[in-house]
Amino acid sequence: MDYSLEHHQSYIGKPVSDLPTPSLIISLPAVKKNVEILHKDVEGLGIRFRPHVKTLKALEVTRMMLGEGKHRAVVASTLAEIRGVLPLAKEGLLDECLYGLPVVSSYLPQLAELRKSLRILLMVDNEQQVSLLEKFGADQPWDIFIKIDVGTHRAGVLAGSSALHSLVKRAEASNHAQIYGFYCHAGHSYASRTSEQAQQTLSEEFSSVIGASGLLPADRELVVSIGSTPTAHVVSSLKAQLPGNTKLELHAGNFPANDLQQVSTSLVQIQDQAVRIAAEVCSVYPERNEALINAGAIALSKEVSPNYPGFGTVVGKLDWGVIRVSQEHGILASSKTGALADKEFHVGQRVYLYCNHACITAAAFYVYYVVDANDIVVATWIPWKGW
Ligand SMILES: Cc1ncc(COP(=O)(O)O)c(C=O)c1O
Repeated sequence: MDYSLEHHQSYIGKPVSDLPTPSLIISLPAVKKNVEILHKDVEGLGIRFRPHVKTLKALEVTRMMLGEGKHRAVVASTLAEIRGVLPLAKEGLLDECLYGLPVVSSYLPQLAELRKSLRILLMVDNEQQVSLLEKFGADQPWDIFIKIDVGTHRAGVLAGSSALHSLVKRAEASNHAQIYGFYCHAGHSYASRTSEQAQQTLSEEFSSVIGASGLLPADRELVVSIGSTPTAHVVSSLKAQLPGNTKLELHAGNFPANDLQQVSTSLVQIQDQAVRIAAEVCSVYPERNEALINAGAIALSKEVSPNYPGFGTVVGKLDWGVIRVSQEHGILASSKTGALADKEFHVGQRVYLYCNHACITAAAFYVYYVVDANDIVVATWIPWKGW
């Protein structure tokens, strides 16, 4: 049993320096600020907002991302996340959830059950998925988003392709699918290094979904959904000319947390990161100028980011990074000539680390310790685990 899962509440009111290690710390002021910025941007544009719940898979942050019911739709990547958001539907704060991967057959019975409590939308990028829905044979047609691949090459059918044309035709002809709209996710926008590059990807997303919506009759009500955290960070630059039948929505997931990958895009600052990992120095090795900490691949993930070497960076000592990891060990070394491990670190010292990819790092923890501006634990959030 995870120690934090049994003892987390006893840390409320205590400083982060008292937390067990490794622990995941969330700065409440940073999360609130990150969410407020995005809300201001989407509300300024007058578009809809669909937060992804996969980053800090918890009710408290989902409630915040929905603006306590101002925004009423989410996207999820696991059934566990959908089960997790159901209390918000019960409270009347949430109307619908998109299951964000192309649907597989074994999930359909569970999705049909979940649909009794919350409107469920499915993601479709292949005619075979329409056949699956027909074979399953639900009482009502499923609302589907058709996923367009705008360059990430993860899921989706290529914009402007004949495959897209025939998928739209196939879905239109089916009694078991109803096209709700077109969705693209610009995962490749993580490679942006300037605001202009992210804006360019955002406008490509927009033109792809608008192009796809032209495959349906002009009077057909549709939702077109674009986004990713880097393109969401520049959404206020969007000059959108929408056809009258179409509603535009933005989706994003990582934005409440941010991480070193987001900082590397140059669209957020290092202090905009809400997540840190608390760890302790287990040993110091002057002969190789390294230190050992008790946070390894499980606590940090093996994700990397372009501007910060290794698998995590020490808060307040950004030249010190976790350059090698084993399962539960991390090795700290500096990129600065002359920096000395035995001057910077001693056995038992606490270190706090920024992570490269908050979504993957957060998924390893059973409890999130939520702190105020003075690093005092004010709450604990229990994330939804598993699938
Ligand atoms: C389908 C879908 N929508 C939205 C998101 C959110 O992206 P981000 O975390 O970059 O905001 C993801 C992330 O993987 C996704 O897969």
